Amino acid sequence: MTPVPRVLTIAGSDPSGGAGVQADMKTFTALGVYGMSAVTSITVQNTEGVQEAFNLPPELVYRQIKVVVEDIGLDAAKTGMLGSSDIASAVARAVKDLGIKNLVVDPILKSSSGKDLLDTQGVEVLKRELLPLARLVTPNVPEAEALCGMRIKRLRDVELCAQEILNTGVEAVLIKGGHMEGSKVVDVLYMGGDEFHYFVRDRVKTRNTHGTGCTLSAAIAAFLAKGKGLEEAVERARDYLQGALERSLSIGKGRGPLNHMWNIEGCAEDF
Ligand SMILES: Nc1ncnc2c1ncn2[C@@H]1O[C@H](COP(=O)(O)OP(=O)(O)OP(=O)(O)O)[C@@H](O)[C@H]1O
Ligand SMILES: [Mg+2]
Repeated sequence: MTPVPRVLTIAGSDPSGGAGVQADMKTFTALGVYGMSAVTSITVQNTEGVQEAFNLPPELVYRQIKVVVEDIGLDAAKTGMLGSSDIASAVARAVKDLGIKNLVVDPILKSSSGKDLLDTQGVEVLKRELLPLARLVTPNVPEAEALCGMRIKRLRDVELCAQEILNTGVEAVLIKGGHMEGSKVVDVLYMGGDEFHYFVRDRVKTRNTHGTGCTLSAAIAAFLAKGKGLEEAVERARDYLQGALERSLSIGKGRGPLNHMWNIEGCAEDF
């Protein structure tokens, strides 16, 4: 019997269930891996936005990671909202001390509703301490701009920015295109050298996009845990996300969540 792939999310809690740890756990379950979670911050949010965030003590975050790695072990991990530079530093220390491999870093800086979720010092720690330990970083366009220090207006800028971010020591960069215009959404993967990989999908016309970034990075981590290469993991994660967006859930008064279980028999209805 093959052992079940094990994946850990290190992220904030979203009580509305659409993003953060909750979205990551749903994604892990839908993709058939064993999910675990270390919480960095308790947010107060719903589909209308993030109202507050209470960051947990960095040492508590470190110990949550340590106990599960030492007991169960990991095949991949992802980070989402880190909340403070001290938590970012504690997470980097845990990744190093515990030898965590296949780390996907979703560098969440702001909520979609505009609330700051990591300060400038936190961005520096992320670049200096966490990215050199990561297999992949998955910024959206504003996050990529903050990481590479240049403005992104067109696809060529995305490529230049990805090259710059690779200098942090991260193995690969996926710049997501959700914030760009057009009927197609283009995510760009860069692993070094002259080659860029484009993941092009139709833009789904829906306002229910809460948690797309969390879901994508969790799905990539799940496929890495299953032993897929980076390009295939992104391709498959992108397909899973597209299905979840196409069947998104119109619940709540704001931007509703995705249908994470769309790929499971009996759960695929369009709601
Ligand atoms: N309307 C859409 N249709 C199809 N794919 C989309 C759409 N919006 C975003 N995506 C995809 O969702 C993923 C997340 O992209 P985006 O650039 O929105 O990241 P993000 O801002 O981090 O997301 P979030 O708002 O959840 O934090 C990418 O793979 C992107 O291509
Ligand atoms: Mg995001």
